[in-house]
Amino acid sequence: MPTVDDAAIDLGHHGDTEATPGLIDLAVNVRAGAPPAWLANRLVASLTELAAYPKAEPARAAIAARHGRPPAEVLLTAGAAEAFVLLARVLRPRRAVVVHPQFTEPEAALRAAGHAVDRLILTGDFRLDPARVPEDADLVVVGNPTNPTSVLHPAATLAALARPGRVLVVDEAFADTVPGEPESLAGRRHLPGLVVVRSLTKTWGLAGLRIGYLLAAPALVDQFAAAQPLWAVSTPALVAAEACASPVAIETADGYARELAADREYLLARLAELPAVTVAGAPASSFVLVRLAGGDRVREGLRGHGYAVRRGDTFPGLGAEWLRIAVRDRATTDGFVAALREVLAA
Ligand SMILES: Cc1ncc(COP(=O)(O)O)c(C=O)c1O
Repeated sequence: MPTVDDAAIDLGHHGDTEATPGLIDLAVNVRAGAPPAWLANRLVASLTELAAYPKAEPARAAIAARHGRPPAEVLLTAGAAEAFVLLARVLRPRRAVVVHPQFTEPEAALRAAGHAVDRLILTGDFRLDPARVPEDADLVVVGNPTNPTSVLHPAATLAALARPGRVLVVDEAFADTVPGEPESLAGRRHLPGLVVVRSLTKTWGLAGLRIGYLLAAPALVDQFAAAQPLWAVSTPALVAAEACASPVAIETADGYARELAADREYLLARLAELPAVTVAGAPASSFVLVRLAGGDRVREGLRGHGYAVRRGDTFPGLGAEWLRIAVRDRATTDGFVAALREVLAA
């Protein structure tokens, strides 16, 4: 397995530092704008309950029902990011393998907890051949769909990685950006060692609230829960989790995902007008990864035109010629593509 250990990569870099005020943000993969009014109203109403300590049970039951699992298989977390820290603190892997390019926090959390990490770097269309995952890996971390490649791995490919004696972590932070979530493993209760990590911050515009969860067998959930600080998830965040698990919310999210797919096709069609730009793989989520010569210069030029896009070179396996672009509405895409055209011509 080709592994890379490039200490020069800043695993702590995230798109939010690129989306500086005044720029149109195509660097952060959170749905643009505020959470919908019905959700915001529930959050506002929860403020009257702030004197009491948070009670996770209703949200836990709602999330469990949403995925067809018992509550004992759910742990609410302060965003998916907290789940990665809990995993890293609890697990004692002999060989941890992180499939890259992917969101860097799982690896950063593992390293911060003192674990060595092997990187399995995907190239080309960024699809995973399960045979490339070393048999002796007792912890495997993979994203689906993957940030930043936007690749959606078939559920069967990922399920084939599960086995007794191995913890398989599937980061499904963007699963709800795919209509119907056909490749999600969230409901697969009996796959050995499976931990599915989910986020509610992207689709619902709740990055500042910090809410996510993990799904796993009760014994694993208990271990992660024991490592979690008391009352780690606030009352408004729990209210959000409960609200976002309702059938109406799931239908709404699915509608968002369908709109997103149309907006993504539009972005891809507009990018196809620019011969200098190559789109990676078959994008399936709320962002696309592109390759173009002089990526750094182009990214700076775009900032001069008022647009922030995410640099690619802080993802293991990518370099400065890669940029990640969030899918936005058509008017924003048109403005962005016009700016990109000018920067490329300059
Ligand atoms: C793939 C992926 N997983 C998890 C997260 C963290 O999400 P949260 O805001 O729920 O902590 C992010 C945030 O960018 C992400 O891109």
